[in-house]
Parts: sequence; structure tokens; C-alpha cells
Amino acid sequence: MIKQAEFRNVKVRYSDKGKGRVIVLLHGFLESLEIWDEFSAKLSKRFRVIAIDLPGHGETPAIGYVHSMELMAECVKSVLDSLELRKYVVVGHSMGGYIALAFAELFPQNLSGLCIFHSTAMPDSDEKKKDRDRVAEIVKKDHTQFVSDLIPKLFAQKNVPLLKDEVGKAKQIALNTPKEGIVAALLGMKERPSRELVLKNATYPVLFIIGKQDVILAWDNLLLLTSLPKKSFNIVLEHAGHMGFYEAPEETFKTVKKFSGMCFREKGK
Ligand code: MLT
Repeated sequence: MIKQAEFRNVKVRYSDKGKGRVIVLLHGFLESLEIWDEFSAKLSKRFRVIAIDLPGHGETPAIGYVHSMELMAECVKSVLDSLELRKYVVVGHSMGGYIALAFAELFPQNLSGLCIFHSTAMPDSDEKKKDRDRVAEIVKKDHTQFVSDLIPKLFAQKNVPLLKDEVGKAKQIALNTPKEGIVAALLGMKERPSRELVLKNATYPVLFIIGKQDVILAWDNLLLLTSLPKKSFNIVLEHAGHMGFYEAPEETFKTVKKFSGMCFREKGK
């Protein structure tokens, strides 16, 4: 069911499916809650699944000129508070993972588990920061070319002709993302700090999903982070790029389902 919650005078759109222990799905840059449609339909047979249109994405309007990861995390918290939810597993795809880590820093007591889905606790390199500014200037004029070029690169090259529908859907969602949302997310990602300490201090289990063909985040760098949390789990997808929920749907679904079940069983959390 699609619903709305209020945060800083804007209406935040989210979906709420299924019953039971709660899993929160946070989409990535240029995505919306629809990116999780198939994933959340399957997960909601066993869990209650909340997927949120983050500020400036999907149908949730932008809030400011820069959407810091902390601001987005506060938005997520206000949606979950409005539902009176206290404990959940948070799954964040890419930018959603940066937000999940900011959430973990601000509200650790609410987490039963954290899944970093093609994402990282490392900040942007200086080169990447410059690139965010460059892209923001391009997007302010016209985002269509940037989006059309980027989306296919998120998939492993071999998967692009095999997953035409998924590439098309991701592209459509990205094209519908308002320019101000794209710019605000770029500037927010650019200023995010390292959150290695969040991983190191995590008292809850952490799952890393890593794509070996990911051109956005190099898999070997991500693998290094898996040594930080005390309770750490990971899966390296041989044939996936940055879109594992489309490129390896069964494997990623089963992994998240098993991980979440384990998180909720831990000391009755
Ligand atoms: C995403 O998929 O959310 C972005 O590619 C992340 C990023 O640009 O760092």
C-alpha cells in the first residue's frame, strides 16, 4: 500500500507491505521505491517491508539545495516514527547505503541489522568530489543525456542485453527524478564523511552485498570493509554490477531474507 508521511513540510511517499518484523528498503541515487517492486513483493511474504521515496526522488519533493545523508536519514526516521516502529533491519542500495550508515550513526538503538547493498562507508575521493560538481552543473541544464549514459553502466556489460526491461525501468525512474533532487543528492553525497567507525562500533549484524562487475564501487575495496564489523557477513556476486537486485534477484533476495531472519532471532531483537 502506498502512503505518505510528513517531514519538514513535505509529503514523503512510501510503501508498506506485509506483516511482521520490519525491513526498511532505501533506494539509491536516481532511483525510487519502485526499484524494489519485485524484491519487496517477495520479502513481504515473510516480513513487513517499508520502502521510501527519499527526498528529491520518486514522488517525494526536494527539501533543500543540498540533501546531506544525515538529512535523508532523519527523513527516514520520521517515516518510521510515524508508524511507531522501533526496531528494524535497514537495507540501503548505494546512496541508500550511505544514508543507512548515517542513520546507524544517529539512531543505532533502532537497528536490528544493516545491509550495505553495493555501497561503502568510505567518503568520496577528491577526484570524485570534483566530478560531483561537474555533473551537478550538467544536470542543472539537462539531465537526460547524463541519465541515459549512466544507467546501462550500472549493470554488468553482459547483463545489459539480457535485462532490457530492468535497464529500461531503471532509466525511466531516473529520467523522472527531478533535477533539483539529483543536484541535492550529488552535493549531499559529495560532503559525506567516512563512516568506517560506524561499522567498527556496530553491535548489530552487518551484511555487505558486493558486485564483482561494479564500475561505481570497486569490489576489492568493498571487501576490505567487511573486516570492520564484529558480526559481518558478505556475498560477492560474480556476474553482477551495481544492480544486484535485478542482476542476481534470487541470490540477493535469499541472502537478505536469511540475514534478516537471523538479525531478528538474535536475542529476540
Ligand atoms: C548510487 O547508485 O546510489 C550512486 O551511484 C552512488 C554514488 O554515486 O556514489
